[in-house]
Amino acid sequence: MNILLTGGAGYIGSHVAAPLVSAGHHVVCFDNLSNSDPSVMERLEAITGQPVPLVTGDIRNGDALREVMLGHAIEAVIHFAGLKAVGESVAEPMKYYDNNVRGTLSLLEAMADCGAKTLVFSSSATVYGQPQYLPLDENHPTSATNPYGRTKLMIEEMLADVAAADPEWRIAILRYFNPVGAHDSGLIGENPNGVPNNLMPFIGRVAAGRLKELSVFGNDYDTPDGTGVRDYIHVVDLADGHVAALDAIAKTNQPLSIWNLGTGTGYSVLDMVKAFERVNGVPIPFRIAPRRDGDVASCFASPERAARELGWTAERDLDAMCSSSWRFEHMLATRNAD
Ligand code: NAD
Ligand code: UD1
Repeated sequence: MNILLTGGAGYIGSHVAAPLVSAGHHVVCFDNLSNSDPSVMERLEAITGQPVPLVTGDIRNGDALREVMLGHAIEAVIHFAGLKAVGESVAEPMKYYDNNVRGTLSLLEAMADCGAKTLVFSSSATVYGQPQYLPLDENHPTSATNPYGRTKLMIEEMLADVAAADPEWRIAILRYFNPVGAHDSGLIGENPNGVPNNLMPFIGRVAAGRLKELSVFGNDYDTPDGTGVRDYIHVVDLADGHVAALDAIAKTNQPLSIWNLGTGTGYSVLDMVKAFERVNGVPIPFRIAPRRDGDVASCFASPERAARELGWTAERDLDAMCSSSWRFEHMLATRNAD
């Protein structure tokens, strides 16, 4: 298939490009590079053994999208492009509605115009809001606790309306839990601009000596050790989940499908710190800090629907998540030293 990856130069998009290219698909990345570095494409080429084209453009520019879609005879789109920093979304909500919601509408219009009605969308477990029960299955009620989450929810609703209006669409909504880790090669991984908001990249930078210590946000939650529990999923497993979802919607006659992509297992912040130290032999200094606004005690998936309907389950363990993250940090350190 000819597949367009919006946001394909980003963390998850670049990891999904690799197995798609290996499976023989023609992949084109479309990215405005607002949160990524074009050198990712060279490293992706080193992994796949062939160049992966990158078109620099913004999804809010419908003409640019139509040009690339028609130019490459695109049949399916995996839509990663979006802004994802929760704190920033609270401070600058219009930026999030514009980029994520308007951007997705522009993409859907371009897809409809070009007759490409197969779409996989990057949603998030954030759409479950405050968990009412655990594990979270796809029927759990949805709600949003911040503008970022609301953009994901609005897009999900928009996609449901589009699928209901035109049964030719094949749409997969993938609700990611907490993607971490890096490609086995250590060549691509998560490298956020500025100080990381998320746990694993923060730990990686403390390990590398680029940050002094980790602040553990709260140790008085109702969890085994008092720190927050999350469902961390290796990004390579997550990537394989996309390939499985794309295969599934190519065969189904259902216009809309929703799948959780998680492992079903929760680990605490201190579990993550200890695992990183043990696996990589590096100390992670930390201090206990106040709770972070908007955080929940525990959040983990029921991955059963994906297992049943996609034949996909996450296989990589916590050790693999920690070792690959560290390998990627090393690659960055070596590159910066050159
Ligand atoms: P990322 O920032 O690394 O990748 C997103 C890419 O989209 C970046 O390369 C960025 O430059 C690009 N982009 C942003 N706005 C664009 C626009 N208007 N036009 C073109 N390109 C644009 O983030 P990621 O972690 O790879 O996340 C990918 C998707 O998955 C996002 O939609 C995110 O909300 C969602 N998601 C991520 C996580 C996570 O923990 N990483 C969890 C749940 C959901
Ligand atoms: C966060 C977002 C979520 C988004 C996801 C991926 C919030 C409230 N939620 O999820 O909407 O989809 O990122 O971008 O921001 N922690 C620390 N110290 C740190 C960083 C994190 O103790 O420096 C803790 C957190 O309190 C939490 C756990 O580590 O218990 C995981 O945090 P994080 O990686 O930010 O992910 P989420 O909060 O689950």
